[in-house]
Amino acid sequence: MAATGRMFRLWLLALVGWASMLSAVDAAYFTTCSQTVPLKTRRDVISITDFGGVGDGRTLNTWAFRSAIYRIQHLHRQGGTLLYVPPGVYLTGPFNLTSHMTLYLAKGAVIQATQDASSWPLVAPLPSYGRGRERPGGRYISFIHGNSIHDVVITGENGTIDGQGQVWWNMWKDRSLQYTRPSLLELMHSRDIIISNVVFRDSPFWNIHPVYCSNVVINHVTILAPVDSPNTDGIDPDSSSNVCIEDSYINTGDDLVAIKSGWDEYGIAYNRRSSNITIRRISGSSYPYAGIAFGSETSGGIENILVENINLYNTSTGIFLKTNAGRGGIIRNITVRDIYMENVKNAIRFAGNVGDHPDDKYNPNALPVVDGISIINVWGINVRNPGSLEGMQKSPFQRICLSNINLKGTAATLPWKCDSIEGSALGVHPWPCTQLISTQGSGSCP
Ligand SMILES: *[C@@H]1O[C@H](CO)[C@@H](O)[C@H](O)[C@H]1NC(C)=O
Ligand SMILES: *[C@@H]1O[C@H](CO)[C@@H](O)[C@H](O)[C@H]1NC(C)=O
Ligand SMILES: *[C@@H]1O[C@H](CO)[C@@H](O)[C@H](O)[C@H]1NC(C)=O
Repeated sequence: MAATGRMFRLWLLALVGWASMLSAVDAAYFTTCSQTVPLKTRRDVISITDFGGVGDGRTLNTWAFRSAIYRIQHLHRQGGTLLYVPPGVYLTGPFNLTSHMTLYLAKGAVIQATQDASSWPLVAPLPSYGRGRERPGGRYISFIHGNSIHDVVITGENGTIDGQGQVWWNMWKDRSLQYTRPSLLELMHSRDIIISNVVFRDSPFWNIHPVYCSNVVINHVTILAPVDSPNTDGIDPDSSSNVCIEDSYINTGDDLVAIKSGWDEYGIAYNRRSSNITIRRISGSSYPYAGIAFGSETSGGIENILVENINLYNTSTGIFLKTNAGRGGIIRNITVRDIYMENVKNAIRFAGNVGDHPDDKYNPNALPVVDGISIINVWGINVRNPGSLEGMQKSPFQRICLSNINLKGTAATLPWKCDSIEGSALGVHPWPCTQLISTQGSGSCP
């Protein structure tokens, strides 16, 4: 109900001051990503209880999940199989999905990760990262994992996938973590994936991580983790293409959505970009980090990205493009439009110096190229800093377009900070900086 109220307020704002935005909002509301991957119904249906699953919150169901999925994989029924998880709390260790399956969580169904970290297998580092993201060497396999699979649906009636991340957050906080923490759901080298009508809660690490994937739809999901849970990014499309994320609510301890593509020399060598990604109608808050982020791991490049109709509340940084020397990669053709922000510290931030290297073998001359970033129709209320746009001296960020941006601050509002960027600004309040030339409808603005 609160969300509806906020939406209504947004609409009012749009009606009062902003006819041009209204038409854009209108158009966007008729667009969905359901065409990207068609939702399939499965004729063959099995239940986790057929495999000994017990939803009492105590019985360990690892064997039940693994045998049910083994059955789907080896019997491969025409049209695939739906694995039904009835109401109840199904405690389990990590398990792998297979192709041609639907994991269906009924209303009141919870698939809950065991807190016994010693039962967690290790897997190899991602080739585009060269090592685990937070510790050298391998990394714990994600709670729900898929490698080289296709035609997979995770859906239902808003049942919950619960990572019970507390034990992992504690290990991170007291520095006793030996390897990189597990994601809640990671899919590698996979395609034709739908994730919808599911709640993700308390991930040990990143929540949803499609890496080296294509044709991925994520919609009508809710992702929740406490504000002080470390690195609980919502959705991180990574070296993936044709990804559509929409109509979701995300409230976590790190970036809500972060587009990535590999880390320094490993990402440059692996050379797999993230492209054709649409993110729309997402709302939520990241008290410590960003609403929508690009990077910081951008070494394979990021291109053709559309972000629209985003509502952010109580967030540190609204839109954040972050990279670094050593990353390499091209970040281009990104459009971010129709963004509403309330209570944010920094509305828009570009940073070419966020640090953070996998090891000391990176090439400091591998500079990222940032070219063609448009940020259009942004309305912000109670914004502390409108923006900080800092490119790199040896690789200035080019063709930056800021258009129709209205950021209302608190009394302490600071001016924009700009360095090593070029482009245009049209109708931006407060006025950004001299590096951005004001032109009538042209310049770097499309
Ligand atoms: C799950 O997949 C991983 C990575 O592909 C593999 O190493 C592991 O053996 C699989 N586990 C099971 C139980 O099949
Ligand atoms: C699940 O939750 C989402 C987000 O709140 C909502 O849009 C959707 O209608 C719900 N779906 C079901 C099947 O209850
Ligand atoms: C991205 O979309 C464009 C236009 O629809 C298409 O031509 C291109 O093949 C897509 N790229 C990838 C990597 O799928």
